[in-house]
Amino acid sequence: MKFENSLDFAKSLDKDNPLSSYRDDFYIPILNDKETIYFAGNGIGLQPKGVQDAVLDELENWASYGVIGMESGKNPWVHYSKKFPEKLAPILGAAQSEIVVMDQLTADLHLLLTSFYKPDGRRKKVLIEWKAFPSAVYAVQSHMLLAGVSLEENLVEVGTREGERYTRNEDILSAIEAAGDELALVLISGVNYYSGQVFDMQAITEAAHKAGALCGFDLAHAVGNVPLRLHDWNVDFGVWCSYKYLNGGPGAIGGLFVHERHFKGSPLPRLAGFFGADEKAGYQFKKDFIPKSGAAGWQLTVPPVLSLSVLEASLEFFESAGFDNIVEGGKRLSSYLLFILNDILKNTQSKPFEIVTPTGEGDHGCQISLYLGADGKHKFDMLRNNRVIITGFPDHVVRVAPVPLYNTYEEVFLFGKILEHILIAH
Ligand SMILES: Cc1ncc(COP(=O)(O)O)c(C=O)c1O
Repeated sequence: MKFENSLDFAKSLDKDNPLSSYRDDFYIPILNDKETIYFAGNGIGLQPKGVQDAVLDELENWASYGVIGMESGKNPWVHYSKKFPEKLAPILGAAQSEIVVMDQLTADLHLLLTSFYKPDGRRKKVLIEWKAFPSAVYAVQSHMLLAGVSLEENLVEVGTREGERYTRNEDILSAIEAAGDELALVLISGVNYYSGQVFDMQAITEAAHKAGALCGFDLAHAVGNVPLRLHDWNVDFGVWCSYKYLNGGPGAIGGLFVHERHFKGSPLPRLAGFFGADEKAGYQFKKDFIPKSGAAGWQLTVPPVLSLSVLEASLEFFESAGFDNIVEGGKRLSSYLLFILNDILKNTQSKPFEIVTPTGEGDHGCQISLYLGADGKHKFDMLRNNRVIITGFPDHVVRVAPVPLYNTYEEVFLFGKILEHILIAH
């Protein structure tokens, strides 16, 4: 479709947008009595209006039932988390048995590294990308140190090329090949938090397996944003948080994926807890740990019911809109954003900002990162003064992430006008 940089055109896109009606189901943050242009769903997704009732329902259940709520009410708490694999399967491209919602991303990653980082002889290297999120780096480092593996020699960070701000897929694939039989694990983001780049998860997994290593993904910025086929891609494991594109609320319960081929044979060693124990054994308070089958066997504790109630209310939108439609909506919105940004660049003499994110088809999701120049912090502040909510970093790179469930083309157009105005004022 041929885009136009005009308010009427943006409005016409909103009129034809099959997801338009969902915006009214979300609270849009207000600054100075006006709605913000909230392009920060990659940080904290917005609150769906049904969430407060869902939480109140569970508080009422607690008041009415006490311990009996474990087994009664609409969502008997002891079984509540079992509802979620079915809801998340289309979003993750995984079998239900491969999914569990539990704890939070970093804790889930630690639990899975315990099972999947198995340094053995020469094979002890871990490969990560440049600008992997600190949590993933710290988690990997802790497991390497716990295993007595030196970080200097064995933690391989695949860098960027001169003048680029993201790690190319092909460079990751070559680094995997080069590490060969010294490689134990590849841990990459599905979508990099800084650049917004989508990695080729299938090719990276294939390369890791060819080298005889395992492959896991930090899916914080991928889940609910881009299509995933974790099962078919043969990914060994993945972890995610639910407070970004899944709109599960600040500090929401996260989740983990383990490929079903790891369920064959004797259970993988793991850090165990009561809630991961096979129900019969767990409830009979047997001493020997027999895990629940599937990913559920990594659970430790009774799930946080209030957080589950928020996530359930939020996931209803993914079910009713259909995840494929949400992905398509996100693609169209970010294409329009790129069009507007390129239009500004075309019409300005200097290069007032740079697009950091790779812009090819399938190379990005909702988030487009921009380098705003040496006075980027000032521009960021001016955007905020104009009610534009985005997130950024000290190196003047900002992340702009219009989200298809609650953002509009009109907002993208207005963002472009505000940005242009700020750039001209400089
Ligand atoms: C890529 C990535 N991984 C991990 C995290 C944080 O994980 P947790 O929810 O455990 O703090 C974030 C948070 O923004 C992230 O962007």
